Amino acid sequence: MAGEMQKWVLMATAQTPTNIAVIKYWGKRNEDLILAINDSISVTLDPAHLCTTTTVAVSPTFDQDRMWLNGKEISLLGGRYQNCLREIRSRATDLEDEKQGIKITKKEWEKLHVHIASHNNFPTAAGLASSAAGFACLVFSLAKLMNVKEDQGALSAIARQGSGSACRSLYGGFVKWVMGKEENGSDSIAVQLADEKHWDDLVIVIAVVSSCQKETSSTSGMRDTVETSMLIQHRAKEVVPKRIVQMEDAIKKHDFAAFANLTCADSNQFHAVCLDTYPPIFYMNDTSHKIISCVEKWNRSAGTPQVAYTFDAGPNAVLIARNRKTAAELLQRLLFHFPPNSDTDLNSYVIGDKSILQDAGVQDMKDVEALPPPPEIKDKVPAPKCKGDVSYFICTRPGRGPVLLSDECQALLNPSTGLPK
Ligand code: DP6
Repeated sequence: MAGEMQKWVLMATAQTPTNIAVIKYWGKRNEDLILAINDSISVTLDPAHLCTTTTVAVSPTFDQDRMWLNGKEISLLGGRYQNCLREIRSRATDLEDEKQGIKITKKEWEKLHVHIASHNNFPTAAGLASSAAGFACLVFSLAKLMNVKEDQGALSAIARQGSGSACRSLYGGFVKWVMGKEENGSDSIAVQLADEKHWDDLVIVIAVVSSCQKETSSTSGMRDTVETSMLIQHRAKEVVPKRIVQMEDAIKKHDFAAFANLTCADSNQFHAVCLDTYPPIFYMNDTSHKIISCVEKWNRSAGTPQVAYTFDAGPNAVLIARNRKTAAELLQRLLFHFPPNSDTDLNSYVIGDKSILQDAGVQDMKDVEALPPPPEIKDKVPAPKCKGDVSYFICTRPGRGPVLLSDECQALLNPSTGLPK
């Protein structure tokens, strides 16, 4: 190793998006390799609003692998981290960094330790899938650092071993995780169905729902479902394969009605399967149900779907509007039903792409209070307003896949010490 015993530090920084499944992954056929019992399809969310940034560093001065998540050191002993690190290390190739005069051979990578620092640009406490972006970013940045020559599909199969849904965060736009047939998981990879520009009318509004309930993790929830639910077999064998074909077609043709009907039906079936689990799992709460009812009433009165809803392993609603105009109307309805507490600043209540708020004609709390009841409930007794049930809304859109950040200012580790900045 040229420059041995010198104190060089070599780094790579990447940014990776999170994703929301519109056809859900729920249930494994192999727990260690993380192999799913059905294909799934997701939309990648714009990293400007929801993403993970990870810096990985290597240096001969590091005496062990270490990781910091949002500034706090965490253990890398868990099997999922170890699996990702092992798989990436075994694919490392010879590297020469002429600028720093560093040469690392394939053999030397086996002995060198890494430092990893990762940060989410959204509150971790919000219960938004951070493990998907996190593992995708870990694998993507390590692959760059270690000069791994594999394609994105092979990297997705490694990210999958960190968290199943992470494999879909290796691409932007619309992504399918193909469950595969091989026992070693080599064909259980993510493929891009269409990039983020393919259907850029779509606008996504996430309602971060307040909850004090401790949620069952996806990992243990799906294990219980596979062990105890009879419905899950019917879902995986009969329902999902048909929906995958229909969803691919809907995405290809920009058929919003089909896209929305499939997305809502699949979210509802996922939660039905959770209820069919013993002991039953409840991820949605009263607020989640109220949001569904608000969207359902609107879609029914419009005669064709305006908005799709989907819920993962928690009460947060992910709402996909057919275009900007519908997104503005959606936000008006959401703010009518779920206004912020009087002491909340509207600017921190609706975050992300603020232009949707402008399109909705809402600038301050006075505008929120003046919102009329939506036409579909105008003649009915309006439900009481639910202040405080939603913590905040994030306005976003379909987004791009992982990128390398070359600017050292964006690195999370100090380039001379390899420790968090
Ligand atoms: C409901 O990927 O978090 O979000 O593979 O055990 O890490 P593990 O589970 P995870 O499960 C995600 C479940 C889901 C649906 C989905 O994203 O497809």
